[in-house]
Amino acid sequence: MSTLEIPVLIARKRDGGELGREQLLGFVAAYLSGEVEDAQMAAFLMAGVIRGFTRDEAVTLTEALLDSGERIDLTGLRGPTVDKHSTGGVGDTTTLVVGPLLAAAGCQVAKLSGRGLGHTGGTLDKLEAIPGLRVDLAPDELHDQVERIGLAVAAATQDLVPADKRLYALRDVTGTVASPALIASSVMSKKLAGGAQHVLLDVKAGSGAFMEDIDEARALAELCVQIGEAHGRRTGALVTDMSQPLGDAVGNALEVGAAVEILRGERSGRLRDLSVELAAAMLVLTGIEPDAARARVDQLLGEGAALETFREFVTAQGGDPAVADRPWEVLPAAPIVAEWRPGAGVVAGFQCRRLGELAALLGAGRQRQGDQLDLAVGLEVLPRIGDPVADDEVVVRVHARRQEDADRVLAELDGAVQFAQGSVPTVPLVHAHVGLAGDPSAASPA
Ligand code: URA
Repeated sequence: MSTLEIPVLIARKRDGGELGREQLLGFVAAYLSGEVEDAQMAAFLMAGVIRGFTRDEAVTLTEALLDSGERIDLTGLRGPTVDKHSTGGVGDTTTLVVGPLLAAAGCQVAKLSGRGLGHTGGTLDKLEAIPGLRVDLAPDELHDQVERIGLAVAAATQDLVPADKRLYALRDVTGTVASPALIASSVMSKKLAGGAQHVLLDVKAGSGAFMEDIDEARALAELCVQIGEAHGRRTGALVTDMSQPLGDAVGNALEVGAAVEILRGERSGRLRDLSVELAAAMLVLTGIEPDAARARVDQLLGEGAALETFREFVTAQGGDPAVADRPWEVLPAAPIVAEWRPGAGVVAGFQCRRLGELAALLGAGRQRQGDQLDLAVGLEVLPRIGDPVADDEVVVRVHARRQEDADRVLAELDGAVQFAQGSVPTVPLVHAHVGLAGDPSAASPA
């Protein structure tokens, strides 16, 4: 790319113009080679955040990111290859339930997961609460494990979409994260590089989500689906509620224990319901079970087939398989458990992000990349919006390493949970289905 052309392309975006495919691919390639400087890329990104990118630009941007690194080759696997991705939330442990469910249903689940940052949790951190479990699988190990048992969950290597790592770091410090096209291309480039033919996105909306507004979350979901389809993958999305923690547990070992209890048929609630909904949507997307997906998923949970797959998966990745039988004996536990009983009322709302931050403050999450976690600590948030609470009822349990940490969090809970007198409507779990072929009602909760 000529150095004269670079300012012209930035100015075109500043003035609301569209860049052609070759121009955009060339611009990103020039950034990676050092020809386009950080300041120029930041100016371009800011222009795009303010002016917007077209759908074609988002598709091309995804291609540019994808082309920057390696791709995982999942060809040769016997069943449909699938990947599920959540945009991040609080108490959101669906992968540990959905992965085994889908593998038990005949899908090949090669899941590249991330670590938590800020108020959101990450699957890799949660899995590391299981003694011995490794998440650093080499690409051929990942492939072999999926071939053998249908499920592997691993960290993405440095070689996967390196351009996204550079661009994301730049966006993080230049106020340019919040663009649907930039988020969608960042997310989808990693999903496409992961190699699965079927991609299901769980786009969160609400006070604990990246996109608080439901319509904005739906627009992001639609763009992700368009990008996936334009790159030849069957892609669907659900827009789901994150105005309150999904499961009761917020914290690594606590969330693993909750997921195991769901797989064992011992726990109900919104985390179970959304896991079933996501697994059913994926069975519709793959065509494995277009008409009775939900019934099939319920059956796999009820028969214990998903629990057996989870046990095989834990064993294959070096973890203690007894976690599937006696989770609370195997997982690390915090020495202090303090209870919060705020008095009678009806739960009117949560500062969901704040609850995630409080769990992170206890040590369950990172303030900075590279921080060491305390896998045992966290919160249990027991009621949901619309639930009545009795005078002496426990609303939150704080699992802490030290009494002073528990006291600090207890003192902040007042600001994170709102109560009302009188009735408060419950919040739907799923706001929208996007791009899901077949009969979505077959995959919807009753
Ligand atoms: N998650 C991603 O992977 N990328 C973004 O840009 C935002 C959230």
